[in-house]
Amino acid sequence: MIELDGLTKRYGTKTAVDHLSFRVRPGMITGFLGPNGAGKSTTMRMMLDLDNPTSGTVRIDGRHYRELDEPLKYIGALLDAKAMHGGRSAYNNLLCLAQSNRIPESRVAEVLDLVGLTAVARKKSKGFSLGMGQRLGIASALLGDPEILMFDEPVNGLDPEGIHWIRNLMKSLAAEGRTIFVSSHLMSEMALTADHLIVIGQGKLLADMSMADFIQRNSRSFVRLRSPQQERLRDVLHADGFVVVEAGNGTLEVDGATTERLGELAAAHQLTLHELSAQRASLEEAFMQMTAGAVEYHAHGTDTHGGGEPAAPGPAWGANSGWGPAPGAGSGTTTEGV
Ligand SMILES: Nc1ncnc2c1ncn2[C@@H]1O[C@H](COP(=O)(O)OP(=O)(O)O)[C@@H](O)[C@H]1O
Ligand SMILES: [Mg+2]
Repeated sequence: MIELDGLTKRYGTKTAVDHLSFRVRPGMITGFLGPNGAGKSTTMRMMLDLDNPTSGTVRIDGRHYRELDEPLKYIGALLDAKAMHGGRSAYNNLLCLAQSNRIPESRVAEVLDLVGLTAVARKKSKGFSLGMGQRLGIASALLGDPEILMFDEPVNGLDPEGIHWIRNLMKSLAAEGRTIFVSSHLMSEMALTADHLIVIGQGKLLADMSMADFIQRNSRSFVRLRSPQQERLRDVLHADGFVVVEAGNGTLEVDGATTERLGELAAAHQLTLHELSAQRASLEEAFMQMTAGAVEYHAHGTDTHGGGEPAAPGPAWGANSGWGPAPGAGSGTTTEGV
């Protein structure tokens, strides 16, 4: 279990992490989600005592990181895959780490095997591809067989096979009862990986809930209808008590209805339908809406630190702020079986 209590980090006038309090529990994958610059890496560095909090505390199984002897046996982390000594072989990189935490040398070959690097164990790590570097970083995290594992944006730059591998590895580690804390700026990635979500924006906590709750609260389900007799269809729906939204392009959207019910209603009134489809607004869109306020604030130059990263990758974060489902969500919707 990791516990954060009022964790705050300021760099000059810039508040990178702003009174974060949450718990990361064992036996599941907790996704740590937020746009670029939200404060995820800073938070993770403070969890590992690589950076000092301005205020607040982090406890690992009730203790501060500094109070753990041989910390690799409690908590393993992949923060920056390039942090390895490039002139050393994969094997020797891991051996140095093992020795510093009194981990038997036999464990080095074990973790190299686990991450699929046995064949290149004696090769210098500076020649490694991005994916091999990530695997080596993960091997170092696993070295002490810790109960808690942290991964900062582990799938960044990986090919689909590498992404699949990391995802399955995290799932099997969580299934063994370990605590898995993994960051990403991609909702789509988290939706496939995490059981629980911590969402931050501008260093502040925006959501702390199960993935199931997040999906239920943030992905709006509705039925889309298109008819050459749109006016009459709308009247029939109104008369039956449905709330109808005109979504443009001659389509109507109805919340809280099934395609069966609406199809039967249209048939009973002899109305022709050109479309009758169940829709779900994407989580990606819900996440963008949730974090957009924070990003916008950042992008408008209130960041006096000046050294900040670009607020967002392109215009993708959208301009809306606030919670809740997007009315008439267009591009961010997916169609479920009709
Ligand atoms: N060493 C530092 N000095 C000054 N500002 C920093 C430093 N590290 C991070 N920041 C700033 O803190 C904010 C959060 O950064 P970071 O934790 O890297 O975000 P994330 O990992 O979510 O992308 C950013 O605005 C970043 O520019
Ligand atoms: Mg980061």
